[in-house]
Amino acid sequence: MCGIVGYLGTAPAAPVLIDGLEKLEYRGYDSAGIALMSEGKLAVVRRKGRVAELAFARTMQGDLGIGHTRWATHGAPCERNAHPHRCGKICLVHNGIIENAASLRAACEARGEAFSSDTDSEVAAHLIDGLYRKEGDLLRAVKGAAGQLVGSYAFAVLAEGERQIVCARMHSPLIVAEGADGVFAASDLAAVQAEGRTAYVLEDGDFARLTDGGVELFDGALSPVAREAVPLGCEEPAPDAGAFRHFMRKEIDEVPQAVQNSIPDLSKPEFSDLCKVLCQTQYLHIVACGTAYHSGLCMKHAAELFARVPTQVSIASEYRYADPIVPPRTLTIAVSQSGETADTLAAAQLAKEKGSRLLAVTNVAHSSLTRLADFVLPTHAGREVGVAATKSFNAQLAVLYALAARLALARGRRAPTLAGLPTLAEETLVRCGRIGAWTPYFQGARSVFFLGRGADRCAALEGSLKLKEISYLPSEGYAAGELKHGTLALVDNATPVVALACDRALADKTMNAVHEVYARGAPVFLVTPFEELYHAREVTASVLLPRCEPAFSPILSVIPLQLLAYHVSLALGRDPDKPRNLAKSVTVE
Ligand code: G6P
Repeated sequence: MCGIVGYLGTAPAAPVLIDGLEKLEYRGYDSAGIALMSEGKLAVVRRKGRVAELAFARTMQGDLGIGHTRWATHGAPCERNAHPHRCGKICLVHNGIIENAASLRAACEARGEAFSSDTDSEVAAHLIDGLYRKEGDLLRAVKGAAGQLVGSYAFAVLAEGERQIVCARMHSPLIVAEGADGVFAASDLAAVQAEGRTAYVLEDGDFARLTDGGVELFDGALSPVAREAVPLGCEEPAPDAGAFRHFMRKEIDEVPQAVQNSIPDLSKPEFSDLCKVLCQTQYLHIVACGTAYHSGLCMKHAAELFARVPTQVSIASEYRYADPIVPPRTLTIAVSQSGETADTLAAAQLAKEKGSRLLAVTNVAHSSLTRLADFVLPTHAGREVGVAATKSFNAQLAVLYALAARLALARGRRAPTLAGLPTLAEETLVRCGRIGAWTPYFQGARSVFFLGRGADRCAALEGSLKLKEISYLPSEGYAAGELKHGTLALVDNATPVVALACDRALADKTMNAVHEVYARGAPVFLVTPFEELYHAREVTASVLLPRCEPAFSPILSVIPLQLLAYHVSLALGRDPDKPRNLAKSVTVE
């Protein structure tokens, strides 16, 4: 997926577009480009790499333009595949994937049309160009082309010589906005900085036309339509890493605050409808991707332990094609930091179609997921800039554990309190001061294992994901007891093992695995709240966590793992905020 912007107004367009793209870099940073129209003539500049590569273009002329930051899907991340793409008078930027691009391209090529990139997006430029030549109407041409496309798209399209931007949306996020000095289009509200602004969220199948007269919205039949106007001033100020070298490090520091802000008071009247549904719920299904999937696994552990509610956790991309069985009285929980992950949205939609009520746990108030859901429990982690999720994971756990406790209460069972967790998270950060000293063991590692049982295993999976995504070290989170059934063959003195032992009932069993890997030469790092294990002889180094309810321990035990990933990433010379090939919001399949 990618980020797109468009601007038409009275201000110079280049800085508006480039500033907007910087805000959208979390969506991909393989290449960037802008197209500007000045005195009816289009100029396109594109660069491989980050938006910063476009700094030279800030002074380009024009008060109308479109821009793009890319996460490569079709075609290598290079300049020729960078957007905007041009064909004839048409110039466009695209976020999404056109799944029938190969056959459409073949048809264009059979007509003698030449392509200048390997992208799926250029196909759309060709289709629109063909229709625009015939009809002379950009909106109709975009609609006609959209009708031939299978897949997902958010488009912003220009025609040379015309003072308008036409947009289209299908399964990829897109907003348009009116401000005092012009009209805007963007993948997300954060990219639009305009005084006195009203933004509108396009729905799938919608089109928009942006002109000096403002924004016009159309449905799939091109009939004028009204869409949700997003309240002004709801976006947060531009994030700033402050005294920290990286956003990721700052965001780990913000974990206690994120947890504190996110623990919901489910006794409030605003949650009474949700609580009624909780009382009737017999099954929980959780759908999510990446880190959010791991918070779902942590929730399963807590919900089954405390409330005895059978809980199924599914990777959203699997769930959506698995024809899932959704029994009556199932509550589906879709967990997503961004609220825009394509697979999570599709899985959530499917669960609804199968009769389930849908609860969204998300960090973005005006996301597609919040619009789809019957109920929303927001995480209040604040904006997370680092591509690798940190504080949003802890915030998701705060919400989900509160829900597990409420479910337990509804069944007359013991409901543990979350009240002390923010303070314990602060204490954990203090105790993790020496995690950076572990990095030399990881710098030369061939691979890394994270081990645990029960809730510890869920945290181990997340710790492993953090390490691999920002250090590029092969790493696996594993059930401590399963290691001996084959995987132990991989362990040697170049295989650091991080073991979590936060549940006294399982800790000695986990320590068996620690002894087994230590005996085979692996450097072992232990995360535990138990003094006697902290001082164990057969470990290379340990961190002593404060004690908490064992089922809630991932909210604390993941903190040293987040910090470890950060320090290893730095030691290996990576950029922890923007790891290669990844993006923060994955709006394509
Ligand atoms: C991407 C990000 C991950 C994130 C996942 C799910 O892969 O790189 O950090 O966990 O998407 O994102 P979501 O916004 O749905 O939580």
